[in-house]
Amino acid sequence: MNAGILGVGYYLPERILTNADLEKIVDTNDEWIRTRTGIETRHIAAEGEETSDLAYHAAVAALDDANVDASELDMILVATVTGDVAFPSVACQLQARLGATKAAAMDVTAACAGFMYGMITAKQFIEGSDYERILIVGAEKLSKITDWTDRNTCVLFGDGAGACVMGPVSADRGILSFELGADGTGGKALYQEDTLIRMNGREVFKFAVRQMPESSENVVLKAGLTKDDVDFLVPHQANIRIMEAARTRLDIPKERMSYSIRKYGNTSAASIPIAFAEEVKHGNIKDGDNVVLVGFGGGLTWGAVLLRY
Ligand code: ACO
Repeated sequence: MNAGILGVGYYLPERILTNADLEKIVDTNDEWIRTRTGIETRHIAAEGEETSDLAYHAAVAALDDANVDASELDMILVATVTGDVAFPSVACQLQARLGATKAAAMDVTAACAGFMYGMITAKQFIEGSDYERILIVGAEKLSKITDWTDRNTCVLFGDGAGACVMGPVSADRGILSFELGADGTGGKALYQEDTLIRMNGREVFKFAVRQMPESSENVVLKAGLTKDDVDFLVPHQANIRIMEAARTRLDIPKERMSYSIRKYGNTSAASIPIAFAEEVKHGNIKDGDNVVLVGFGGGLTWGAVLLRY
């Protein structure tokens, strides 16, 4: 038996912020943002709409897709760096709102790699205990920690949430291999100070263009597969140039990688589950496909899985 996906869902807040809108806030332009990052628009939560609200909508969609009732959940994991408050966790708020009375609940903090950490934690519980239904959500309201006067960062981020319900599947499906890592010595490349995101873009870029391709390749080999066996790549949507580095390493054509960054920007821990759920919903990821999910983030952290959907 393996841990696999039972259902997916995602949610984006209504308001869209375009590159033209950003030109009015900071000294930037559409051409620079598109060519350097690949981002065209991002969604921004409404005032009063918190991370737990975004998480709730994505969770409901995933539970519905999995045909699982919240009362059946054994655990809720929420990957986020923008919880409504330090505690209670978003996972506990979600547990109450969903009525998931028997579920244990906690948040996972690994920045943009948080969803990968969440998935791999869920795998341990599903394969190593009697937990059968685990909800994992990646949810972020990055707009509340974005420095809207800093053109180096404010053009990058967006708000949103994505979710998966995981449970036992047959041994030839689900997560076939994984890799997780951290390098705390790189903490100063990307961090929060006085509530706002601070980033050394070039440092993060250098780390990510090395790590994303390497981790992607590692999980393929660990699963006993070759690059030719990979059907779809869902990288963390941080910068289109970093994503292309991973795609090139796996030798995958453009139509088999997710480019949701164009519409949603970098939604940190929410980016991988949003992209994954959207590709599943659009029929681009199908039953039995070998999918690489790979992410990196502040910490520094990284994680990847080879998932047979
Ligand atoms: N508009 C116009 N010009 C800009 C902007 C902007 N929005 N931002 C920076 N510039 C300028 C810079 O000031 C610089 O000008 P200078 O040469 O006069 O100093 C010039 O553009 C080039 O800057 P670089 O930093 O060299 O640009 P680069 O090509 O590296 O792209 C970027 C910058 C997009 C930030 C890139 O470094 C990157 O994507 N890094 C990784 C970021 C990332 O992935 N973060 C992940 C966050 S994950 C998480 O955990 C939240």
